[in-house]
Amino acid sequence: MCGIVGFTGRHQAAPILLDGLSKLEYRGYDSAGLAVRDGENETEVIKAKGRLKVLMEKTNGGESVPGTCGIGHTRWATHGEPSEMNAHPHVSDDGNVVAVHNGIIENYQELKDKLLRKGYSFYSATDTEVAVKLVDYYYKKYGESPIEAVNHAMVRIRGSYALAMMFRDYPGEIYVARKDSPMILGVQDGESYIASDVPAILKYTRNVYYIGNMEMARVRMGEITFYNLDGDEIQKELKTVEWDAEAAEKAGFEHFMMKEIHEQPRAVSDTLNSVIKDGKIDLSEVGMDEEMIRSISRIYIVACGSAYHVGMAAQYVLEDLARIPVRVELASEFRYRNPILDKDGLAVIISQSGETADSLAALRECKTNGIRTLAIVNVIGSSIAREADNVFYTLAGPEISVATTKAYSTQLIASYVLALQFAKVRGQITEEQCDEYVKELQTIPDKISRIIDDKERLQWFASKQANAKDIFFIGRGIDYAISLEGSLKMKEISYIHSEAYAAGELKHGTISLIEDGTLVIGVLTQPKLYEKTVSNMVECKSRGAYLMGLTTFGNYNIEDTADFTVYIPKTDPHFATSLAVIPLQLLGYYVSVNKGLDVDKPRNLAKSVTVE
Ligand code: G6P
Repeated sequence: MCGIVGFTGRHQAAPILLDGLSKLEYRGYDSAGLAVRDGENETEVIKAKGRLKVLMEKTNGGESVPGTCGIGHTRWATHGEPSEMNAHPHVSDDGNVVAVHNGIIENYQELKDKLLRKGYSFYSATDTEVAVKLVDYYYKKYGESPIEAVNHAMVRIRGSYALAMMFRDYPGEIYVARKDSPMILGVQDGESYIASDVPAILKYTRNVYYIGNMEMARVRMGEITFYNLDGDEIQKELKTVEWDAEAAEKAGFEHFMMKEIHEQPRAVSDTLNSVIKDGKIDLSEVGMDEEMIRSISRIYIVACGSAYHVGMAAQYVLEDLARIPVRVELASEFRYRNPILDKDGLAVIISQSGETADSLAALRECKTNGIRTLAIVNVIGSSIAREADNVFYTLAGPEISVATTKAYSTQLIASYVLALQFAKVRGQITEEQCDEYVKELQTIPDKISRIIDDKERLQWFASKQANAKDIFFIGRGIDYAISLEGSLKMKEISYIHSEAYAAGELKHGTISLIEDGTLVIGVLTQPKLYEKTVSNMVECKSRGAYLMGLTTFGNYNIEDTADFTVYIPKTDPHFATSLAVIPLQLLGYYVSVNKGLDVDKPRNLAKSVTVE
């Protein structure tokens, strides 16, 4: 979850590293650091606790650290509190090896004990310092090349890592090792770049190599050589990243989150258009043909965070339209549950980053069990995309705000398309019905735009909620899935406690938490469940709740019950999540802004969770 950048070339490294880190701050932001080397001089290491801007000020925008080769890091603490001491880069006892790391070294205590016995001492509480010193130990023990030393260390380290290292004897070079943590390498005009994530180097190059698991690389000016665990050189293909550089900038919006909310109509229509040809669903690029779809007995959707909420909504849609059994699971639970998987089942792993550690582990668990895997992923070339049997790419473009919006919306679209194709191929709906559903899906981008255009009303309502202590979101069926995401958006960026409850469950506990003025948001997009949820809202009102209703235009009688109502355009109820989530994203956003919080980088969170 930490961010890594590296550069070696003719230009000054520090400003490039700082610029790259500024694009990666969403990966972690409790401290940051740089190591830069000027020719053969000793490497200079500068670190700072807090946001990147502290490091920028300390280095005068990078100017005070001259040199054309360096590595940088922005940290999300795992081992050791956020502090300057624990910030990366970390350095071996005599300064021979300097490194930055993303991931977790699980056996760090055992390795640390070994190194202590060999005379090493430790200044920080991090597992990274252990890795650096282990590499240094093997480098000196065998007196071989950095690749050999890293190789020895990789065999001993358990856990996950993306490591970028510099060695005193090799000026102008950076060494990279990777296991289960993302890392890309880029080249442009005789200069080389390293990053844990595409946006960090997009401004400089679109030509990248994806380093594989348990592989290493030697990075020199404009030249990158890859090695496998045997130390043998391996060839890699240079790939072009299609994202444009502006996509990772704020483009005049105050926050990335607001920009990304506005990008949803485009992201949704791009994703949809990628699998609709002449009004018909075409999954040939995903690689799922009709025979395969017919042979699938059941679906397991596995994901984390908002992607899991997509799974919750998808479950209702898939089961209702395609009449196929679906089970939705949190990846962190699934992987340790020893799941019983049907050999004809299909595992659908949903992930924006394609790097979430638990989702990746769940995917591997499914593959070990011999069942087919389909990834719905946003980041091309990410670990999950590379390891899954089939990939359905969402075309959201780079998402920077920690709280997801546009990636979530595109994942929903992918799941609807799957549901429709399964329904049609398995004879649950006719070709004509499918065409009608597709036509309806094509209206979604425009309807999302209309909701966004009306955002001022929500801004006004949000301004009154800044002091709320608790907020409850209730709904049934798909409306419950929407509530889960609405509640997450609210709590993660506004720090207001919120819970989503299946409306029928309220009376089994939650209703005792309702006090005078507690905000309860009822989600009512499902005609069949409308009256039932209204009754549950009334029960809350009788106990003092202040009610917001979120429903479809036409259901005007909700105004007899709710104190404040938000309407969304009409759509087929299966697709209502795509519209109802928009006001809830805006609500969370405006409450957070109203409270003066850092919307894009909420405390303690990180955009992609690459540790368990
Ligand atoms: C983090 C992000 C969420 C995201 C979740 C899963 O918690 O803040 O927005 O839903 O990880 O990430 P993934 O990349 O797998 O979708």
